[in-house]
Amino acid sequence: MQGTTKISTNVENNLDSEIEQRVTALIGRMTLSEKIGQLNQLDASWGHPPDYLGPRIRDGGVGSILNTADPAIVAELQRIAIEESRLGIPLLTGRDVIHGFQTVMPIPLGQAASWHPALVQRASRASSAEASRAGINWTFAPMIDVTRDPRWGRVAESPGEDPYLAGEMAKALVRGVQGESLDDPESLAACAKHFAGYGAVEAGRDYAATNVPPNEMRNVHLRAFRAAVDAGAATVMTAFTDIDGVPATANEHLLSDVLRDEWGFDGMVVSDWDSVRQLEIHGFTDSEATSALAAFKAGVDMEMVGESYSRHLEAAIDGDATLLQRLDNAVANVLRLKFRMGLFDGRAAARGQTEWTAQAITEVSRELARASVVMLRNEKNTLPLEVDRLKSVAVLGPLADAPYQQLGTWIFDGVVDRSVTPLTALQDALKGSAEVRYDQVFETSRSRNLVNLSSAVNLATQSDVAIVFLGEEAILSGEAHCRADIRLPGAQEALVKALAACGTPLVGVILAGRPLALGAVAECFDALLYAWHPGSQAGPALADLLLGQASPSGKLPISFPVMSGQVPVYYSQKNTGKPATDDTIAHIDAIDSYAPQTSIGMTSYHLDAGFRPLYPFGFGLSYGTFVYAPTRLSASTMTGNDVLRVSTTVKNEGLRSGDEVVQLYLRDVAASLTRPVKELIGFQRVQLAPGESTDVVFEVAAKDLGFYGPRGRWVCEPGEFHIAIGGDSRVELSERFTYIEN
Ligand code: BGC
Repeated sequence: MQGTTKISTNVENNLDSEIEQRVTALIGRMTLSEKIGQLNQLDASWGHPPDYLGPRIRDGGVGSILNTADPAIVAELQRIAIEESRLGIPLLTGRDVIHGFQTVMPIPLGQAASWHPALVQRASRASSAEASRAGINWTFAPMIDVTRDPRWGRVAESPGEDPYLAGEMAKALVRGVQGESLDDPESLAACAKHFAGYGAVEAGRDYAATNVPPNEMRNVHLRAFRAAVDAGAATVMTAFTDIDGVPATANEHLLSDVLRDEWGFDGMVVSDWDSVRQLEIHGFTDSEATSALAAFKAGVDMEMVGESYSRHLEAAIDGDATLLQRLDNAVANVLRLKFRMGLFDGRAAARGQTEWTAQAITEVSRELARASVVMLRNEKNTLPLEVDRLKSVAVLGPLADAPYQQLGTWIFDGVVDRSVTPLTALQDALKGSAEVRYDQVFETSRSRNLVNLSSAVNLATQSDVAIVFLGEEAILSGEAHCRADIRLPGAQEALVKALAACGTPLVGVILAGRPLALGAVAECFDALLYAWHPGSQAGPALADLLLGQASPSGKLPISFPVMSGQVPVYYSQKNTGKPATDDTIAHIDAIDSYAPQTSIGMTSYHLDAGFRPLYPFGFGLSYGTFVYAPTRLSASTMTGNDVLRVSTTVKNEGLRSGDEVVQLYLRDVAASLTRPVKELIGFQRVQLAPGESTDVVFEVAAKDLGFYGPRGRWVCEPGEFHIAIGGDSRVELSERFTYIEN
């Protein structure tokens, strides 16, 4: 590891002078090893942690612990820190509260599918309240890595493919986690992760290299982080990955130049799990000591496990004034957070009344699960099912009654007993009116054993409707759980085809941690609900939708490929010099073997998959039928001081009420860096009764037209823009206006 040490200074504006005085005074009393101790985060997940962590904490060698949520253990470790260490500095107690604590909310990708930031914020508030009761004060969430690769297992944790939607989710999640104030006993410190570009891992294979050039980094990957920091995220976690040769955990440009100097972040940076020592494995450093120094100099304040800081920083610093200054800066970042959280001031004791009763947490979990479901098909209004007319319902499939699987990935503290499965919920809802006949068919989502196929088909044949619950078990997505072939696993496609052939209306409900490639089976379903992993309340939420107590209102936060090989396929692609159109493509089956080379279209597409996804970003059906009037603009030109009003009228011409997510897309036609063919720049959720209409207005300012330009600065360049409002990313950008610089 080569290079100079650049010490970033925090922007002073937001600093609370009383806290800063306390931080400075405390640092003045600390020994070198106590300072380094504050940068050390240790694992408390095994054995009896007070035995092996107690002495270290007592000696001032630990600033934070992670991975225990046992209230008695957490309290004991905290007590040792406060009462028995020389300076009484409390611990940050970290936990992956990723989508719920004991009551599990939908996976983050599902939450993003709700396009409902206010509800997402409430749910994350509920989870923070629940976790705080176990003594947790820091969550490693939100994960806001934009990704266009559903093969990547961590797509389940991500907000999907779009920087703007990801930014809105980031803000909502940070606000939910941290509440009005960090020292509220129900607030946790948030952690925006993984900084940055992790979602671009090659081939969707976890931990693989990322090659993210500056334009892509700024305009795609960093935007949600900027939103999280602006919303006050207390901490940021570095990514495991190598970015174009410089691993994120030693990336001075990102951690110092961008995060600190440019964005004015005054919180704390933590590494990912042992990612400091992994710098050597990456081939960026040649020893544990140089790894520690590289991460430390680049701007990682706290090391998550690994302990290379504890082992090597003292010797490395050895009177070096610059490194000592960096040390005080890192320690200040840790202590400032602890003061802001009120940890020195008896925060836990201050707990009072809470709105987050067990029932309130369950209710928000059900509401968000309902809002996260995306209806992908509904031929001949198969859904909602008319309960009065149903005599028998076949409930089939490996995920109909799988209390653990419906929770999804990252549920360390999820209580499986709180799961209500779709089978149970449908049995309850239909009790006394229709017979529910159940067949699991496959032991797991991966089973290839077709032995139960014919009995399942018989059950479907004899029933008024068949609802088949398919998808992926929880373990097939999440960290390090990537798939190269993202079709329905096992023999599920065969089941779908067999059920489709039997003539009974077929409703598919897919529970999965990623978009699956459904090209081979989508049309077999009369209706199809995509439920992600919905969490504890999967059953009630899905029964509400299937039986028409509520209308589906989710929209896809990520495009669904026709087949795995089409990945990445996303709506905000660049136009290329040879964009495909329906007239310029040929299908592989229709090509003459001797067709001259250029005769089948010289445009950008796959012979076997075309150029469109199976289901586009922003797409989702409802029981309402929403019709959009042409987009209206308040002017055909705008300057930097103007606000352009972009509006439409949306009418529900259907027979049922529902929520519609109204979306605003823009294109900057020519710019100094090529811009995507379309970019989401706003959305609003409206609720419309049958026959009702409403005007939806977006106010667009010059800042909404901009992008990070060639020098990494936000620019808004004069010229022509295309814009329109619609119900998904296929909307044609029919309106034009010119932006004139003043
Ligand atoms: C993950 C992080 C997580 C950490 C602690 C790592 O493997 O990448 O997202 O917060 O473990 O559990």
